[in-house]
Amino acid sequence: MYILSIESSCDETSIAVVKDGREEICCTTYSQLAEHSVYGGVVPEIASRAHLDRIDTLTKQTLADAGLALAEVDAVAVTAAPGLIGALLVGVNFAKGLALGAGKPLVPVHHIRGHIASNYLTYKDLAPPFLCLVVSGGHSHIVEVKDYTTFNVVGRTRDDAVGECFDKVARTLGIGHPGGVYLDKLSASGDPNKYKFPNPKVDGSPYDMSFSGLKTAAINLLHNAEQKSEELDKPSVAASFGKTIAEILCGRFFAAAEDLGYKKLCVAGGVAANSQLRALLKATATEKNVELFLPELKYCGDNATMIGVQAYYEFLAGHVGDMSLNAAPTMEIAENF
Ligand code: KG4
Ligand code: ZN
Repeated sequence: MYILSIESSCDETSIAVVKDGREEICCTTYSQLAEHSVYGGVVPEIASRAHLDRIDTLTKQTLADAGLALAEVDAVAVTAAPGLIGALLVGVNFAKGLALGAGKPLVPVHHIRGHIASNYLTYKDLAPPFLCLVVSGGHSHIVEVKDYTTFNVVGRTRDDAVGECFDKVARTLGIGHPGGVYLDKLSASGDPNKYKFPNPKVDGSPYDMSFSGLKTAAINLLHNAEQKSEELDKPSVAASFGKTIAEILCGRFFAAAEDLGYKKLCVAGGVAANSQLRALLKATATEKNVELFLPELKYCGDNATMIGVQAYYEFLAGHVGDMSLNAAPTMEIAENF
């Protein structure tokens, strides 16, 4: 089964063709980084317009690269939630037009379900149940993946998402957008034990996380040094900050795995590319003798292939949309469209 999939929830316009939920035939992604970087973050209005400018030509190009006509694909899939509403609407309306015009089923996909599904591309035999740590610009969740379309959130951030936290600290450091990528690079030459940051517990919920105190501590450290004209060791700030984030995430994730009896663990989302996090996850998994699956770096960030993968399983479960489909800026991962 060939699925044509569309991702436009944030600042990447991405179109893919995926075969039988496990094989990427081709994927074309246009990153809007250059359009947004002058503003130090994603500007929703610019994102919507940039999606609109390219979505049709990227789709034609992707189908041509796949050697398929629209008539030969079996379904059209699209990220319909969560994300920037204007950006999502471009993808959803385009997908509805394609599905209606070509007489194909329309499969709406939850963006975070797509991130989790990116693991199925690398590990062809991987199948639920497993526990997944989802870390992106908008989400920090610990999710039970009970089967391909059944999810249960057991832990979540009470405030900022971890990617957002990386991005705000990077902005204060003046090192570019998206901040997580630049902080990761900077941390490589720093001492992760030089600066101490808080690792706050959340009352009453052992797997929930809180990142706003950590973010504020890092921003205060930078502002105070600036006011006193003190020179900070920026690579070590980045490394100490990254180490604290990795420790918070690993602490909650492995505690949840142990308590809930999971021996199979996956990670997903843009922050899954972080080198300090990957290293600590691998070391802890080895120490605790559990299986760990990390998505390939190219599938950590937003891409349409992961949407095509998840769409296959949604389609098999009968989760097909119709012309009343609407985009939603927020939606729980456990909910179906
Ligand atoms: O999953 P994603 O591409 O988009 C959302 O669904 O939000 O995640 C984007 C986030 C951004 O906050 C970005 O700074 C962060 O992922 N990110 C990283 C790294 N690469 C991307 N954070 C830390 N280290 C990285 N290497
Ligand atoms: Zn994402």
